[in-house]
Amino acid sequence: MTTMIKTVDVTTALSDVDRFCDIPNARISGEIFHRQDIYEQELEKVFARCWLFVAHESQFKKAGDYIATTMGEDDVIVVRQKDGSHRAFINACPHRGNKVCFSESGNARGFICNYHGWSFDIAGNLIGQHESGIYENSHFDASKWGLREVALIDSYKGLLFANFDADAPSLKEYLGPMAWYFDALFDNQEGGTEFVGGCIRSTMDCNWKIAAENFVGDILHAGWTHDSAARAMLGGAVAKVSDFDESYSVNWHGHGYEFAMDTVGNVAVLGESALNKYLHTIKPSVAERLGDFRSNMIGSVSSATIFPNFSFLPGQNTIRVWQPRGPNKIELYTWVLVNKSAPEEIKEKWRKGAMMTFSPTGVFEMDDGENWEYCTKTARGKVTAKQDLYVGLGQESLLQETDLPANVYSGQLNEANSRAFYQFWSDLLKAPSWNDVPNRNVGRVEAGAAAERCSLKEAK
Ligand code: FES
Ligand code: FE
Repeated sequence: MTTMIKTVDVTTALSDVDRFCDIPNARISGEIFHRQDIYEQELEKVFARCWLFVAHESQFKKAGDYIATTMGEDDVIVVRQKDGSHRAFINACPHRGNKVCFSESGNARGFICNYHGWSFDIAGNLIGQHESGIYENSHFDASKWGLREVALIDSYKGLLFANFDADAPSLKEYLGPMAWYFDALFDNQEGGTEFVGGCIRSTMDCNWKIAAENFVGDILHAGWTHDSAARAMLGGAVAKVSDFDESYSVNWHGHGYEFAMDTVGNVAVLGESALNKYLHTIKPSVAERLGDFRSNMIGSVSSATIFPNFSFLPGQNTIRVWQPRGPNKIELYTWVLVNKSAPEEIKEKWRKGAMMTFSPTGVFEMDDGENWEYCTKTARGKVTAKQDLYVGLGQESLLQETDLPANVYSGQLNEANSRAFYQFWSDLLKAPSWNDVPNRNVGRVEAGAAAERCSLKEAK
């Protein structure tokens, strides 16, 4: 018997969250990128309560296959069980807390602690000790001292998410209507997706929210920040977003996705003709599977974040988690995602394209990293940090009459998703429980359905 993690005890609250995050007036404070006390609250109220990406099902082939990762700053191991299910455990021995798994991935019959030799099977049960006889007269109940299990784990289209909070809404409720859009990348072909290549780990000296918010809907920076690298390294300018005929910013809770319609070929890596050809080849089957609207989203100029720290760029197929490592540091976990059914040479071209653009040596990642590090560094100044930062672009752009799901805003040059991201962050910091998180959504739950309201509170 393993022990479940209890619901997180949220007893403390920042009294002045509204001062740091005043979304009705389109302002945030630079202090949220630097203060240690805010960071500690985030670990407790955001990372210990939200669904966090931990692995892709394609990384597991047989029982005992495991991935070691982190949820916030907590080390966890995700292990495939004999029945094909996945379970996640705290990667710390319940004796004195030593790590029990030091490898990033592999296959194991169990985990043995280096310190005093407690051993655990893949279901987390304590099955042996180096000096087992010594506990016999001490009322020791081995069934209570297995690896502590993460309360919830669930899969969405092959992506495994876990949650420390047993009282959290289900993953389906958490993603809400945003899943409809995410399917344009994660479910556009029969057979689903897989990771190609391994996980790249790197670090940046920046606050995790700056990176997550950049992907939730900041196309604004692309034509300026990335233009010279695109011209020098990729042979052309970054596409001018204001030239696109049709584009949207959509959000729900803190998740966001901004995309242009029918822009295959405008994404730098897709200048590679074989990838463009592949996307045009599959487009009719995507239309059959997901409908015309989403077939026009594939390979588009777009980016997305699933709150709090899982982001992806559909055009480049790069997937990343911004792992928090203090208020001023992140560890990036980066993968490349492809359709399982894609030809091998296409998978390889996608892998190379993503490496060339968004990896530690990628031309765009370096551009972004420099900006994000300075946004974080300037917030260390006591006076500078207190200045308001403007997040007001596109305040009048909500589409009231639309059949599209979620909260839909016209145009990508828009900070609607950034506002929703910081609002949800602020709501979570203030809320003692999920039932206290307000519903700020105004959009539809499903495409074309009668307007249906959804709140995390009601969804439970
Ligand atoms: Fe693991 Fe003692 S800390 S056996
Ligand atoms: Fe960028």
